[in-house]
Amino acid sequence: MRCQKCHQKVVIKISRANAKYCKACFIGYFEHQVRRAITKERMFSPEDRILVAVSGGKDSLALWQVLIQAGYQTAALHIDLGIERYSESSSEKVVQFAARHGQKVYTHRLKEAHQLGIVELSGELDRPPCSACGVIKRYQFNRFAMENGYTVVATGHNLDDEAARLLGNVLRWQNEYLLKQSPVLEKNEEGFVKKVKPLYRLSEYEVAAYSFLNGIDYVVEECPMSESSPMLVYKKALNLIEHQSPGTKQQFYLSFLDNQKKSPLPPSTMALHSCPACGQPTSSEVCGYCKIMSRLPGPAQKVGGPSLT
Ligand code: AMP
Ligand code: FES
Ligand code: ZN
Repeated sequence: MRCQKCHQKVVIKISRANAKYCKACFIGYFEHQVRRAITKERMFSPEDRILVAVSGGKDSLALWQVLIQAGYQTAALHIDLGIERYSESSSEKVVQFAARHGQKVYTHRLKEAHQLGIVELSGELDRPPCSACGVIKRYQFNRFAMENGYTVVATGHNLDDEAARLLGNVLRWQNEYLLKQSPVLEKNEEGFVKKVKPLYRLSEYEVAAYSFLNGIDYVVEECPMSESSPMLVYKKALNLIEHQSPGTKQQFYLSFLDNQKKSPLPPSTMALHSCPACGQPTSSEVCGYCKIMSRLPGPAQKVGGPSLT
């Protein structure tokens, strides 16, 4: 089988686009999709200082690599969740990648900041690890970017992540969440920094193939806590449909975005203000992060900032 662009040997078939590529043309296709997302959605420009949220998995490392190669100014923020083995090997991959590319990585370690990893911390709070984890990560990404002059936070969410999130939001008709389902969330006066998802047009399979073909050394293991996450169920359901009818996943998410542009949902009525405990923006009395911290036992938890690794 020959590449549809240059007739070299095919290494990948992409059913949703009815395409087959050799290694070089696939890498070209992938990077073109990322560049297209960045320019079409006006995510950032060369003047921006981009904080890439890097977990050590394939998505965020692939994203970081594309941004570095394209010459953008980047640094990474990694959250060490304190999950034995998994967090150790994740942090190791991030630090090794940064060293290989001469880039800076900042690490926020939960065990240093709170003397607890995410598993123990969620146990104390009696809530699922993934929900506390999401609050902590989003908080640290925003706060670190604001305090250190980064103009944009970029995450490695891909098409599968976004389609699964959309399915979850639609199943419950969660309008507030649907409003935030965009590859770009602009900064606002209240203190949220701009957030972007440059891989939103690329499937999980394509990101894995790109990382593999580029020799990116990423942590293959999924977070052991994610086994109980509803997102996995939504992903499985979408994959089942995608298998029967290739292209459905991208149509589901990308058509939602098109419709949002043509006839947007009514804007949010949620008013934001500064959290009295930490100063970060929130729509509740105190922010989700401070609420979590106030419920932990022992002396008042300090709001820990990342340290330079
Ligand atoms: P997930 O929700 O695990 O699929 O992750 C989505 C994106 O969030 C990743 O692609 C990263 O950009 C970011 N992210 C997830 N976990 C971490 C982490 N521990 N440290 C830094 N960024 C993370
Ligand atoms: Fe958050 Fe696993 S608990 S990534
Ligand atoms: Zn707060």
